[in-house]
Amino acid sequence: MKPGRVIVVSNRVGLPSDGKARAGGLEVVMRSFIKRNRGIWFGWSGQIAQRGSENVRAVERGGVTYITTDLNRADYQEYYNGFANRMLWPIMHYRLDLVEFSNRDMTGYLRVNEKFAEILHRFIEPDDIIWVQDYHLMPLAKALRDRGHMNRIGFFLHIPFPPPEVLETVPKHEQSIYPLSHYDLVGFQTEGDAANFGKYLTQQFGLTSRDGRSFNVNGRTVRAGAFPVGVETAQFERLARRSARIDEIIQVQTSIADRPMIIGVDRLDYSKGLDLRMRAYEHFLEAHPHWRGKVTYLQITPRSRSEIKEYADMEQRVSETVGRVNGHYGEASWTPIRYVNRAYTRTLLAGLYRFSRVCLVTPLRDGMNLVAKEYVAAQDPENPGALVLSQFAGAAAECRSALLVNPYDQEAVAAAIDQALSMPLEERKERHRDMIAALTANDIKGWGERFLAALVREPQSGLRLIQQAGF
Ligand code: G6P
Repeated sequence: MKPGRVIVVSNRVGLPSDGKARAGGLEVVMRSFIKRNRGIWFGWSGQIAQRGSENVRAVERGGVTYITTDLNRADYQEYYNGFANRMLWPIMHYRLDLVEFSNRDMTGYLRVNEKFAEILHRFIEPDDIIWVQDYHLMPLAKALRDRGHMNRIGFFLHIPFPPPEVLETVPKHEQSIYPLSHYDLVGFQTEGDAANFGKYLTQQFGLTSRDGRSFNVNGRTVRAGAFPVGVETAQFERLARRSARIDEIIQVQTSIADRPMIIGVDRLDYSKGLDLRMRAYEHFLEAHPHWRGKVTYLQITPRSRSEIKEYADMEQRVSETVGRVNGHYGEASWTPIRYVNRAYTRTLLAGLYRFSRVCLVTPLRDGMNLVAKEYVAAQDPENPGALVLSQFAGAAAECRSALLVNPYDQEAVAAAIDQALSMPLEERKERHRDMIAALTANDIKGWGERFLAALVREPQSGLRLIQQAGF
């Protein structure tokens, strides 16, 4: 029997021509994983169809088959902007205050999952292995099972999974979140997230488990495990080394003269804690006046999900804070914060990371945060920069030698910025060595294969595999 194909399903599909230069590390890794497994990548084309038509298209590029479908206007509003990003995104990031629930959005969410299942149903073969990505598609396995597909189906959640006390506030969560129990394997970024999933099944649905990781649901087994996403550590270091010499990077360096640079790179999203971070930086300038005029903070923040009110509101708040800090502390010859609302290529980011003395990654909550890991990977081991990292990012579990901070404590973040800028070379090298060792041990190469191996194992041995791998 020929081995099954791997079908990856995600809301967005990373077609190589769609801004290849801006592809994130994970997208690049996913593409090469699918290629190695003779796979298919299925999901939303990113287009909104004018009328009901779904426009299913298949294209082959570089050994990967991409199958995409458009969404119609109602799908886009109710499924993507609505339930996925106004309900699930805030709740998964512990932001009950920002949640907006509507039955119409939930229905749209379930409808698009059915739609995806209906399209997949046309080309799935019995021995295909299906791997579904992220919070947009939690009910997809159930929709496929309802159509008779008994394939191995795995799910990976890229964002946090909060405790059941938070999740139970989602109205009718048994229809949107509980269907995760129809997967064979549910993967998370951290052990804490995987444990929360176990607690959710036990506390809300009375399911029992001997180890908190393997549950029997109507005669089937669903397993949970942590598969933390990493970066291509050595490859990213090489990219950063090369990028440091390109013209655009040298121009930035020249423009800041010899001042040390602090860098932040985040989508414009409230989970990233940008407003509090700017205020912490303001506090730092206030409390450590000797740094005024002596340091440059570059914050790169591409706009994101701008049609959603909370995003538009926070964009305004952050701009106001930047304006206030620059107005108050800036001089004709010095701008305290350079705030840029556009996306940079991977190559440029690698070069910018390489010469930044400090990187600020202070999300209020984050599944993993690959900026933190890429920053560490990009450093020159002989003269590395320092990472200030939120204790609430998944990356904190591996980057124990970063300066870990509580992003809600502005004074502590301000003190950490000062400590990072003043850190002696020996200490920087030592912390960097520790973090590189952790990142190398969990290099992203093979992440897909590790998940796949756990997915195709029988429940018992699969569980042992996860435990042996130290997850
Ligand atoms: C997060 C999510 C991804 C999502 C990305 C960009 O990283 O985990 O699933 O694709 O944000 O958000 P967008 O809404 O633009 O797809």
